[in-house]
Amino acid sequence: MRLAVIPGDGIGPEVVAEGLKVLGEVAPDVEATHYDLGAARWQRTGELLPDSVLDELRGHDAILLGAVGDPGVPSGILERGLLLKLRFELDHHVNLRPAKLYDGVTGPLAAPGEVDMVCVREGTEGPYVGNGGVLRRDTPHELATEVSLNTAFGVERVVRYAFEKAVARPRKHLTLVHKTNVLTHAGSLWSRTVEEVSTEFPEITVAYQHVDAASMFFVTDPGRYDVIVTDNLFGDIISDIAAAVTGGIGLAASGNIDASGTNPSMFEPVHGSAPDIAGQGIADPTATVLSVGLLLDHLGRPEQARKVNAAVAFDLSTRDAGQPLRTAEVGDRLAALAGG
Ligand code: NAD
Ligand code: IPM
Ligand code: MN
Repeated sequence: MRLAVIPGDGIGPEVVAEGLKVLGEVAPDVEATHYDLGAARWQRTGELLPDSVLDELRGHDAILLGAVGDPGVPSGILERGLLLKLRFELDHHVNLRPAKLYDGVTGPLAAPGEVDMVCVREGTEGPYVGNGGVLRRDTPHELATEVSLNTAFGVERVVRYAFEKAVARPRKHLTLVHKTNVLTHAGSLWSRTVEEVSTEFPEITVAYQHVDAASMFFVTDPGRYDVIVTDNLFGDIISDIAAAVTGGIGLAASGNIDASGTNPSMFEPVHGSAPDIAGQGIADPTATVLSVGLLLDHLGRPEQARKVNAAVAFDLSTRDAGQPLRTAEVGDRLAALAGG
C-alpha cells in the first residue's frame, strides 16, 4: 500500500502518529511517505501545495491527513489553498461522514437510543467553489458574494453514491437534507435528482427535511437517520452536530472519496487542528483511527478494517470517563487490540 501522509498542523501530527501505529499493526505492507505541508511550510517558503507535490500524491493508493489551520496564518489560506485544493484537484466528490453511537460512549443526550447514520456530503461543489467576490472593500458599501454552484452531473453522482450506500445497509433509508423552501434553484435540482435516481432503487425509502429541521431532529431524534445526502456546506455543519451527539468530534471519521477511482481518496478526522489543545498530548486520536478503518475499507481490505473498528469499539466500551485521555496511550491500546 503506497500511502501519502499529510500530518498538517496543530494536533494533526499527534493524531496521525497514532493512526499510523494502528495501521501498521493490521497492514504490514504499508509504505508511508510523509509530506510536509501546512502552516510551517507556508510560513517558511510561501508554498501551500506545489504542483510537483500534487503530482506525487496522485501516484499513491490513498492519503491520510491530520488537520490544517493555524492561528498564525490568516483564516482561509491553508483551508482553501491546501485542504480544499486537495479535495477539488483530486475530485473528492463524496465526503463520507459516518456517525455511530458506540456502546459505552456517553453523548450529551439523555436517551439517544441507537444512532448509526452516515452523512454523504457533496465535496466539490456548493458554496465551497470560491465563486464569489467583493466590491468596495472596506467601505460602508462593501458587497460580498459566495455563489453556490450545483451541477446536474455533480449532484447526480453524489446522490447515486448515497443510494448505493443505503442499499448496502439494513435499514435502506435515505434522507435528503437541503433548504428547498428558500434555495429554490439548487433545491429543485437536488429534489428532482433524488426523485429520479430513487426510481432505480425501489427498496429504499426516501425522506426529505429542511436543514434547520434536520439540525433539530439530529439532537431530538438522531435514531431516525440512516443515510443522509446533502450539499457541501449543509454537510459540513450537520456532520459536526452528528459528531457531537455520538460522543464528540474526537470520534468523528471521514473519507474524501473520488468514487470513480481515478485519484487517490483522502481520509481524515472531521475535526480541525485544535490549537487550544495542540502540543499537550491530550487529543483523542480515535477519529483518525476510525478514518484509517474507512481507508482500509475503501482499498478493499474489509478484514483489516474490521480489526481496526473492532479495536475502537472494544476500547470505547471499556474507557474510564474519569481518567484523563493521553493521545499516545489511546493509540497504544488501539494498536495492541487491532494487532492482537
Ligand atoms: P477544531 O475541530 O480544531 O476544534 C474544535 C474544538 O474541538 C476545540 O475545542 C478542540 O480542542 C476540540 N477538538 C478537536 N479535535 C479534538 C480531538 N481529536 N480530541 C479532543 N478535542 C478535540 O475546530 P476549530 O477550532 O473550529 O478550528 C481550528 C482550526 O482547524 C481552524 O484553522 C480551522 O480552519 C481548522 N479546521 C481544519 C479542518 C481540517 O483540516 N479538516 C477541520 C475543521 C477545522
Ligand atoms: C471540515 C472542515 C473544512 C470544511 C474546512 C477546514 C475547509 O471544516 O473538514 O469539516 O469546511 O470542509
Ligand atoms: Mn467542518
